[in-house]
Amino acid sequence: KPMRLWGGRFEGGPADALTRLSVSVQFDWRLAPYDLLASRAHARVLHRAGLLSEDELTRMIGALEDLEEACRSGSFRPTVADEDVHTALERGLLERLGSLGGKLRAGRSRNDQVATDLRLYLRDHVRHIVSRLVELETALMSQAEEHAATAAPGMTHLQHAQPVSFGHQLLAHVHPISRDIDRLRDWDRRAAVSPLGAGALAGSSLPLDPQAVAEELGFSAAASNSMDAVADRDFAAEFLFCAAMIGIHLSRLGEEIVLWASQEFNWIEMDDAYSTGSSIMPQKKNPDVAELARGKSGRLIGNLMSLLTVLKGLPLTYNRDLQEDKEPIFDTVDTLLLVLPAMSGLVATMRVNTARLESSAPDGFALATDLAELLVRKGVAFRDAHEAVGHLVVWCQVNDTTFERLTEDDLAKISPHFAAATGEGTSPLDVLNVQGALASRKAHGGTAPDRVHDQLAVLREIVDGQ
Ligand code: ARG
Repeated sequence: KPMRLWGGRFEGGPADALTRLSVSVQFDWRLAPYDLLASRAHARVLHRAGLLSEDELTRMIGALEDLEEACRSGSFRPTVADEDVHTALERGLLERLGSLGGKLRAGRSRNDQVATDLRLYLRDHVRHIVSRLVELETALMSQAEEHAATAAPGMTHLQHAQPVSFGHQLLAHVHPISRDIDRLRDWDRRAAVSPLGAGALAGSSLPLDPQAVAEELGFSAAASNSMDAVADRDFAAEFLFCAAMIGIHLSRLGEEIVLWASQEFNWIEMDDAYSTGSSIMPQKKNPDVAELARGKSGRLIGNLMSLLTVLKGLPLTYNRDLQEDKEPIFDTVDTLLLVLPAMSGLVATMRVNTARLESSAPDGFALATDLAELLVRKGVAFRDAHEAVGHLVVWCQVNDTTFERLTEDDLAKISPHFAAATGEGTSPLDVLNVQGALASRKAHGGTAPDRVHDQLAVLREIVDGQ
């Protein structure tokens, strides 16, 4: 016979179709440890309210602990007949305590219970997610440290733009992750509000103590409005946004790694442990980790959209629609905990092809801006300098040559500005080297290797605090 918490006023059983639609235990069972935690806190509050004797409290806590162990070991399992996690656990409690088990439900509804469980679950899992994010930051930072002075082609529009330190580029992926962690920490402040005590929607006539329960469960406060307490899923939607943003950051990093690992770029080689082969082409080494990170961002964004759509237009307070909050949340948590360690491993073990990066850094006339800025330092208006260097690029293309092979005579032919900039021991050609170009970008936030090291030191402090 199906276990239900609401049989009293019904004649006959529910239709199979209803039961199949309604049941959530197959996915909400993972809330069991949090439900049991909240139940212990609730039992203590009932005891303080004089609704459970000392002896009853002891037996209640004992049974809840026993049930928790039984859930952990798998000796207690939900059955298809249990509507949801709360129902299954009440069955477990009744099996252990008989009618005493029925006292725990006083002053409590599944509406405040499930909202509490979900907050507890998420706050706990966000801590794990943050740890995995810190690991990814650490992996990026140690590669960045090694390659602070490695020149690489810096790109805009996926076209060679200006040389950059490859470490600088790697750190450009650390900052977004650091902001993600910041966002999650900030999220936690708002999520740390306990709905327990709100009951179904109106609070309880029993002398409960929501603030004491909140404190016992590690929340910073109890909800100030019982109706909001059971209706609010902002914390869930906000978490899904933070996760979608992480997904987008992982996807952008993943996309770059896919490019870097291609024959055309050849910037990195992935470790065998983090790459995959082809079932038909024996030579293949594929960046599946990065591609899955990129692909799975789709479901992270989808999960956010899915919950927002459920919430839109819902009247207060609890509506059964809210049961649809869980699967997107669980899927997002699982996805992040799956993708992050793989991405960290991929980044930590990739070998950077330093020679290739450095030799291609000046490609595509990437030092053109340096030449124009040299003329600016000699007093030429940037507009004219830009024009002169533009002509030089065309000249090089027409004559099938590169900046590296230019002579001072070539320059003089292009523009008198170049001739004017050539003098005793100084030549415009001097700025046409990649390391000089990097070192000269030495203002705060620039790509000079010294600044990259400063940036690393600041990030280390931030990451240590995360
Ligand atoms: N399983 C429900 C949920 O996840 C909680 C039960 C509340 N059900 C109810 N009929 N009030 O939201």
